Amino acid sequence: MNPSILADNGPDRDRFARLESRECVNHYNETTFSIPTVMHPDLPIVHDQPLAGLNTFRIPASARRYLRVTGAEQLTAVRADPALADLPRLVLGGGSNLLFTQDFDGLVLHMAGQGREILGQQGDKILVRAQAGENWHAFVGFTLDQGLGGLENLSLIPGTVGAAPIQNVGAYGVETKDVFHSLTAFDMASGELRTLDAAACRFGYRDSIFKHAIGRDLIVLDVTFALPAAWQPNLRYAELANAVQEAALAAPTPRDIGAIVEAIRRRKLPDPREIGNAGSFFKNPVVSNEECRRLLETYPNLVHHAQPDGSEKLAAGWLIDQCGWKGKNIGPAGVYPKQALVLVNLGGAQGADVVRLAQAIQSDVAARYGVALEPEPVFI
Ligand code: EPU
Repeated sequence: MNPSILADNGPDRDRFARLESRECVNHYNETTFSIPTVMHPDLPIVHDQPLAGLNTFRIPASARRYLRVTGAEQLTAVRADPALADLPRLVLGGGSNLLFTQDFDGLVLHMAGQGREILGQQGDKILVRAQAGENWHAFVGFTLDQGLGGLENLSLIPGTVGAAPIQNVGAYGVETKDVFHSLTAFDMASGELRTLDAAACRFGYRDSIFKHAIGRDLIVLDVTFALPAAWQPNLRYAELANAVQEAALAAPTPRDIGAIVEAIRRRKLPDPREIGNAGSFFKNPVVSNEECRRLLETYPNLVHHAQPDGSEKLAAGWLIDQCGWKGKNIGPAGVYPKQALVLVNLGGAQGADVVRLAQAIQSDVAARYGVALEPEPVFI
């Protein structure tokens, strides 16, 4: 661990100090406390902000009002401003899980807070905190640079730290919930800061409280992760286990595993800087065990994974691939040739083009397999 990082609390140092003094990194389910009302800083509100550069699908759209948010004080000021307080809100991180189908007639809050720090050891975990606006992959790299394992399977996922708990981002056998300690959120309804632990976040597969009405007013400001002090590689995902075996490393480090995950992702997934996309466009559908058995009778090669509750998760990519969609397109919206679960902007696509393609895929999969595919990105 690099000790110089211990002092690097970033621009929100004072807020961290306040958090620590309330001992909210102890055992809690959810704590609430008020933040002091500050003089309203002049809010640098932008009118009619173009959003094409702020979503990885690179869909053109604009926001009626836009604010780059670096701390809770600005959110307090938004609440206090009658011209802003009642506008519909869209909280934007890296824009990697969004599909704009129209302009956003409200206030975009672009979470841009920077800063990361190692808080120290608690039991058998090392606690590491980052501000919501930190780039996810850079944050993973930071932890690996400190010799800390735990996030390596989540390497190269586009987006920001603040977005990771929203959809409980996961890949290669690890989900955010597995390495999560707590987060700080600003409650737009009450104006208070709240600290939520994993139970309070109600994590599910690509799901959390923040995706539901009950969490609608909570804006994530920072996230604390609990990384194992004694690290073991997580090779539950067969594709990763095979790649690690092929690399024939005597004792792979977290950094080694991260590099292998990166290589797998680069091979299969489009780089959003080159081809507009939002990662997996559909969730992997979960069906009953009975339904899965029924499908296997007709489709013995069906890719399925048993879930702890006895249900079965099907590979949406396989279903779409089998329907012949891989590499196909409707106008400027296409299906990525190397991974059928990823829809791409072939150039100049509008949100409606992607929706048309997604609906055609959904209807083919439903007709052939009787399975409903649910989109993963949020449609605006
Ligand atoms: N498959 C095909 N054809 C395809 C794509 C996949 O037959 O075109 C088959 C594969 O051969 C494999 C199975 O489907 O047997 C699963 O494919 P893969 O391992 O690529 O994973 P996935 O289930 O398609 C999920 C996540 C990804 C994550 C990977 C690795 C979801 C919705 N997607 O994809 O997450 O990277 O597992 O853990 O859960 C994302 O959310 O944006 C994302 C990329």
